[in-house]
Amino acid sequence: MRLLVIHGPNLQLLGSRQPSVYGKTDLATINQDLKRLAAMRGVIVTIVQSNHEGEIVELIGKTKGRYDALLINPAAYTHTSIAIRDAIEAAGLLTVEVHLSNIYAREPFRQHSLIAPVCQGQISGFGPQSYRWGFEALVALWTARSAALTAAPRPTAAPGRRRPSTSRRRKR
Ligand code: DQA
Repeated sequence: MRLLVIHGPNLQLLGSRQPSVYGKTDLATINQDLKRLAAMRGVIVTIVQSNHEGEIVELIGKTKGRYDALLINPAAYTHTSIAIRDAIEAAGLLTVEVHLSNIYAREPFRQHSLIAPVCQGQISGFGPQSYRWGFEALVALWTARSAALTAAPRPTAAPGRRRPSTSRRRKR
């Protein structure tokens, strides 16, 4: 699995930014942890932090054929960015949204995500562990998807010539 991790605005400040909300772990430590997990699972990981909405949109727009999955903490753009939402929807990657804090236990303006509806799921409120579980969720989804593709039966004859087996034939 080729994984792109995107950290949104202000996450470069982790460790010193509102430790009572976001904890004391810095971004370098979160990234090291993700790289360690990736090495264990045979995942190829690229990690980017950006404070710019357009840059994030462009990164997601260039994922086709290069990445299989996206782990994203859109930070403040979670609550405002239709552009990032549209980019994720258009890219069609397996995507999990993560947050360090529980956005549903915070100010009303943080309690709505524009991004979550176009993701496979969201993990919010577990500090750096949110990233680990987000990563594991993507690996599990990717493994299940690959297994389903491998198990899909291959057509043995031209589609027009195939007949349903007796047991599956519909009664008229
Ligand atoms: C955040 C939550 C957002 O509301 C906030 O703007 C952030 C961080 C989190 O990880 O808890 O910058 O995404």
